[in-house]
Formats: sequence, structure tokens, C-alpha cells
Amino acid sequence: MQGTSFWSGYDWPESIDWIAAVLGTLLGASDRSFTEILIEYDGSLPGSYFSGPTIDGEISRYYSQVESFFKSENVGDIFGQAYDDAQWVVLEWLEVIKFINEYNSYINGSDLGEENLSRYAHRAHVFYNIVQNEFETSLCDGGITWNPTLETYKNAITNELYLSSSIAMYLYFPGDYNTDPYPTANYSSDTNTTLPPLTFLQPHDPVLLDNAIKEYDWFKTHNFTNEQGLIVDGFHISKGQTTCDKRNEMVYTYNQGVILSGLRGLWEATGDPSYLSDGYDLVNTVIDATGWNAQDASEASQWSGLGRNGIMEDYCDASANCSQDAQIFKGIYFHHLGIFCEPLPTITPLVANLTVLAEDDLAASHSGHCDGFRPWVIHNANAALSTRDQNNVIGGWWGSAHNNGTEGATLDMSVPRPEGSWDERNDPSVLDQAPWACRDADGCRQGRNGNALSARYVKPSAIRSKKRDVNDGGRGRTVETQGSGVGVVKAASDFTRKRPA
Ligand SMILES: *[C@@H]1O[C@H](CO)[C@@H](O)[C@H](O)[C@H]1NC(C)=O
Ligand SMILES: *[C@@H]1O[C@H](CO)[C@@H](O)[C@H](O)[C@H]1NC(C)=O
Ligand SMILES: *[C@@H]1O[C@H](CO)[C@@H](O)[C@H](O)[C@H]1NC(C)=O
Ligand SMILES: *[C@@H]1O[C@H](CO)[C@@H](O)[C@H](O)[C@H]1NC(C)=O
Ligand SMILES: *[C@@H]1O[C@H](CO)[C@@H](O)[C@H](O)[C@H]1NC(C)=O
Ligand SMILES: *[C@@H]1O[C@H](CO)[C@@H](O)[C@H](O)[C@H]1NC(C)=O
Ligand SMILES: *[C@@H]1O[C@H](CO)[C@@H](O)[C@H](O)[C@H]1NC(C)=O
Ligand SMILES: *[C@@H]1O[C@H](CO)[C@@H](O)[C@H](O)[C@H]1NC(C)=O
Repeated sequence: MQGTSFWSGYDWPESIDWIAAVLGTLLGASDRSFTEILIEYDGSLPGSYFSGPTIDGEISRYYSQVESFFKSENVGDIFGQAYDDAQWVVLEWLEVIKFINEYNSYINGSDLGEENLSRYAHRAHVFYNIVQNEFETSLCDGGITWNPTLETYKNAITNELYLSSSIAMYLYFPGDYNTDPYPTANYSSDTNTTLPPLTFLQPHDPVLLDNAIKEYDWFKTHNFTNEQGLIVDGFHISKGQTTCDKRNEMVYTYNQGVILSGLRGLWEATGDPSYLSDGYDLVNTVIDATGWNAQDASEASQWSGLGRNGIMEDYCDASANCSQDAQIFKGIYFHHLGIFCEPLPTITPLVANLTVLAEDDLAASHSGHCDGFRPWVIHNANAALSTRDQNNVIGGWWGSAHNNGTEGATLDMSVPRPEGSWDERNDPSVLDQAPWACRDADGCRQGRNGNALSARYVKPSAIRSKKRDVNDGGRGRTVETQGSGVGVVKAASDFTRKRPA
């Protein structure tokens, strides 16, 4: 991902803004995984572990890329986009802060990145501030709408992100007393907007925990799951109604994932094990929906709701018509599953001070559940790795191994979308029509800098400069497919590591 697609000073030039924030998250998370490998081996790795680069060398290399990306991240534009976009940036910088704290607590005398911490915290604060007051109860009793420039759509991703970003802010945000509300120095003059100053935000502010609890209570009581138990994409509100009465039955992989890091964080902050149980149930539902527990090979090869042959797929994978957005979805799933399955702390961890400590039997039961997921995670990582081309770039359709490795459109394996679904993440043209498009009279708001939602889908350079492999259908192998690969392979590495609590 880094060797092929990262150009220092430009940084993943082919990705779109929110996905770049996810790639930055994966980079910070990879540095955290490497740190945990150092801890596991107590600094002295078995000689055979790595030939070539040392783990410490990899950690500094990726950290310097994270720092470079801080400077080039397109924060001016992303600031004006939808309420999901902003929150990927929050999670990104909190992940980096977690890495810095963990690394420096372990390596005696290291202060890697310490002098940058306050800037990272400020960016997380500026972007959290965008959504902080957007949970509103006049429609659907709560939740956050996807994009204020469209008709109200209370969707899974925006609300799962609000759970995850609120609880991560509560647990890891180090505080910020810089009241500058703008994402860039020139933002105010460039956009002719004046924003109120940010308010001070302390570490572990109880409001952040309240936001997370309130969000999950709302999410859980507004049936986001289909008959199979998979999370659907979201709710519209019919004309003249105030309740979430019109559900979009579309199922995407990332909607099954982001909630998991939120549930893990809620346990960590409250000690209530029901959050973990909800997570196990959802992961098991997803695993079943890939055909992993099928009776036999023939049953396994049938579409099961979110994949087949035990391999996760989005609807667009087999037909090779995933958008740039959808190409990163599976990587997001595995990143958040990885966070969910981190061992529960039984001794005071190196960094946090407010984490609840797990009783031994709860910690063991958590590891037991997650050990149960391990073979499935490894199976998916191997499937992703099997799609590598001669340049080691991973393809989008991990299930293609069962179709002789082709990444081309395979229409006889393409399955119809769920009844009653709009696939707006792959076909943004639906957003110009009811029930999405905003009629001025309906009081939809202008974006913070007037950006229409569709602006985020257009990144011509990403399409023009693509070098396509003859076997590649659709957008082909891209930084997003590679990012999804990093997500699942990193998860498999984390799941196979001996992970002391
Ligand atoms: C850091 O110092 C502590 C206490 O002296 C020691 O136990 C530990 O092994 C050291 N860690 C590393 C990574 O050198
Ligand atoms: C991080 O801190 C160093 C040293 O002060 C500085 O040179 C560098 O520009 C900072 N990077 C960021 C992203 O703030
Ligand atoms: C900010 O504005 C100043 C003065 O107009 C200009 O020189 C500078 O290039 C601008 N910086 C950016 C990042 O646009
Ligand atoms: C900026 O906004 C002010 C107040 O709304 C308006 O009077 C002014 O014309 C705007 N300037 C530009 C360059 O749009
Ligand atoms: C949620 O909706 C699905 C699909 O309509 C239905 O099968 C399920 O029973 C509902 N769950 C709850 C808790 O109401
Ligand atoms: C832990 O608590 C101490 C004392 O209250 C505080 O100074 C420190 O910043 C806290 N650390 C974290 C990571 O929150
Ligand atoms: C894959 O190749 C094998 C051997 O050539 C063939 O038997 C099988 O039908 C192929 N499968 C698909 C899905 O094309
Ligand atoms: C992708 O292709 C499949 C199969 O042709 C089709 O059913 C589906 O509507 C297409 N999706 C999009 C977003 O174009």
C-alpha cells in the first residue's frame, strides 16, 4: 500500500478524502500492531521473524508517513462533507495517538511523536465538533442524519461512527485547549465563513460517554437488522412522517464492522458485558452470512447474505462494479473486528487510566469467543492474499479464488440486491432522486462550504491514471483494494499473535 500508492507530500493521491483518512487509520493501527509484536517478544525477536527490515525501522518509517499525511490531508474539503466523512478523521488521529502512547510507554526514553500529539488531538477535536451536536430527536427519536444537504437519512454508518468516535474520544482523547475551530489556517477567508470558537475539551469528558451510550440505545431500539440479523444501510422518513418508517434494505460489509469498536469501547468505559455479547452475536451472524458454517461445499458456495465459501463479499464484488467507496469496505470491517477482539485488560494497561479491568473469567471468555473467529479471519486473509497480482497488489473480489482467480465481472455469480434496497454507495446517481434529493422547501441545509455530496465521488485522476490488469474488472486493483487487504491481513496477524492481556 505504501510502496505503490503513497507519494510523500501528496499521499495516496488516488484515494478520495474519507478513504485517505481510513488509510491513515490503517497505517497508525499497523504501527500499533508492530509495537505489540515488540512487546510480545520483549524487544528481542526470534531471528527468523523478519529478514530485512527491523520492526523498529518499519515503525519509524510508517510513523513518518503518518506525520507527512497530517500535513497533506485534505481537511479543508473534508470539513464540508457529510457527517460520516468527518468521523473517519476523528478515528484516524485517535488511532495515531493510541500508537504514540503505547509505543512510548513501552520503549524506555522514547518520545516518538510526542511533540505532535497536541496537533493530532486538535484535529480530532475540530472534526468531532462537526457531529457533536447533530444527534437530534425531532425525527426518528434520535440519531444523526447522513448529510445535511440531502433529505434526512438516518443511516447505519454515520450512527455507528458516532458511537465509535464518541467512545474513542472518551477513552483516548488527551484534551485540547486550542479554540481555533477551522480545519486550515485559510479556511475562514477561503470560504467566507465564521464559526464560533471551539470549547475546551478535557480528557475523559463524561459528555463523550453519554453521547456514545445515547447513540447505541437509539441504534439498538430502531431495528437496523434484517431477518438474517445483518445491519441494513439506513432509514428514510416518508413525507409527513417523523418516524424512521422507510428502510433501505441494502447490506454492506462495513456497516457490520464499525459498530464493533464502539461496543468494545462501551465495555471498556462501563464494564457492562452486554455490549460484548451484542458484538459476539453480530460477528457470528456475519460469519454465518459468508457460508462459513455451511453443511457442505455445495451449500457453502451459495450466496449466504454477505459472501460465500466462508469469504466476505460485498454485492458489487462478483459483478466487478464496486465504487471507490465500496472497495475499502471489507478492510474497514476487519480493522474494527480487530479492535473489538483485543484482549480485555486484566492488569492496569500501560497507558489508559480509566479502563475497567476484566475479571479473569470475562477476559478468558472474550478470548474464547475471539479465538473462535480466528480461523475465519485467517481464511479471509488467505483469500485476499490469493488475489495478488505480479506487483503484489490485492484485488477487490477475495472470492475470486473460487472462480479461477479472475477479478473480472462474473455475472453468473452476481446476486440481486436485497428487495427494497438502494445501492447508493455504488450508484450515487440515485441521490439525485427521491427519497434522497433535497428540495429547498424541505429545509435541508447547505453544507459547511456548500459542497454537494456528489463532489466526493469525483476524483478524475483516480480514474484516468489507472493501469489496468487485463484480468481486472471495474475499477481494478487500487489503493482501496490494497487497503482492504491491509485491513484483513493485519487482523489475521493480530488474531494469531499471542496477545497477553
Ligand atoms: C524499560 O524499563 C523497564 C524497567 O527498567 C524494563 O523492565 C523494561 O524491559 C524496559 N523496556 C524496554 C523495551 O527496554
Ligand atoms: C512534529 O514535530 C516536529 C518537531 O517539532 C516538527 O518538525 C514537525 O513538523 C511536526 N509534525 C507535525 C505533523 O506536526
Ligand atoms: C493562505 O493565504 C495566504 C495569504 O492569502 C497565502 O499566501 C497562502 O498561500 C494560503 N495558504 C493556503 C494553504 O492556501
Ligand atoms: C462574505 O460574507 C459576507 C456576509 O455574509 C458578505 O457580505 C460578503 O459579500 C461575502 N464575501 C464574499 C467574497 O463572498
Ligand atoms: C427487525 O426487522 C427484521 C426484518 O423486518 C425482522 O425480521 C426482525 O424481527 C426485526 N427485529 C426486531 C427486534 O424487531
Ligand atoms: C492518567 O491520569 C493522570 C492523573 O489524573 C493524568 O495526569 C494523565 O494524563 C492520565 N493519562 C491518560 C492517558 O489519560
Ligand atoms: C476453474 O478451472 C477448472 C479447471 O480448469 C474448471 O474445471 C472449473 O470449471 C473452473 N471454474 C470456473 C468457475 O470457471
Ligand atoms: C452491478 O452489476 C450487476 C450485475 O450486472 C447489476 O445487477 C447491478 O445493478 C450493478 N450495480 C451498479 C451499482 O451498477
